[in-house]
Amino acid sequence: MSKGPLKTKWVAPSILSADFANLERDIRAVAAAGADLLHVDVMDGHFVPNLTIGVPVVESLKKVSPLPLDVHLMIEKPERFVEDFIKAGSDYLTIHVESTASPGDVLQKIRSLGAKAGITLRPRTPLKDIEAFLPLADLVLVMTVEPGFGGQSFMADQVVKMQELSRLRREKGYTYLIEVDGGVSDKTVGQCQDADVFVAGSYVFKNDYRTAIRTLKGEA
Ligand code: DX5
Ligand code: ZN
Repeated sequence: MSKGPLKTKWVAPSILSADFANLERDIRAVAAAGADLLHVDVMDGHFVPNLTIGVPVVESLKKVSPLPLDVHLMIEKPERFVEDFIKAGSDYLTIHVESTASPGDVLQKIRSLGAKAGITLRPRTPLKDIEAFLPLADLVLVMTVEPGFGGQSFMADQVVKMQELSRLRREKGYTYLIEVDGGVSDKTVGQCQDADVFVAGSYVFKNDYRTAIRTLKGEA
């Protein structure tokens, strides 16, 4: 079924929709329900109009999470913090192409510090803006909502980016995973089959975790 490097699809629940007073409980529950990664949304109130969590929280999550941490940085000048986020335990660290003057240097720095390097783009940013960085990426994230908040509607006009990334990977021999983030649910996952990893916040946390995760993986 999977066209990419994974044998089965992965699901990465976004803790933005978890109970922040009970993160350990919720993380252990989604891990037991079959999740593959834990998606952690870091927002700085500048790059996006919302503030969430920072390095000390990631460090604490790392101590209790049975799942690798998939950290999505929605912050200006991420180069200031990549070392701290990797020391805190980020396994995948994803930056926005619009957030830094030197995306290639930041991706190389992430890899040199031992983490997997991810690149992403806002819905209105064209795919050509990240093409030069694809050889440096272990993960490419396609945003299907405007970054900043959970619970928004899926933007179907972004699906073409997943298709194009899948074609480029095949044709050029790239090795990145394709991840999709925003409004992913039972209703929209069918349009995302060029992605390898499904991020889902509200859909997982507002439903029975096991059923939701199995549905996204096409196992239900
Ligand atoms: C939005 C975040 C998402 C968010 C997804 O800026 O990047 O990870 O948590 O939430 P849902 O799945 O509810 O759209
Ligand atoms: Zn995210």
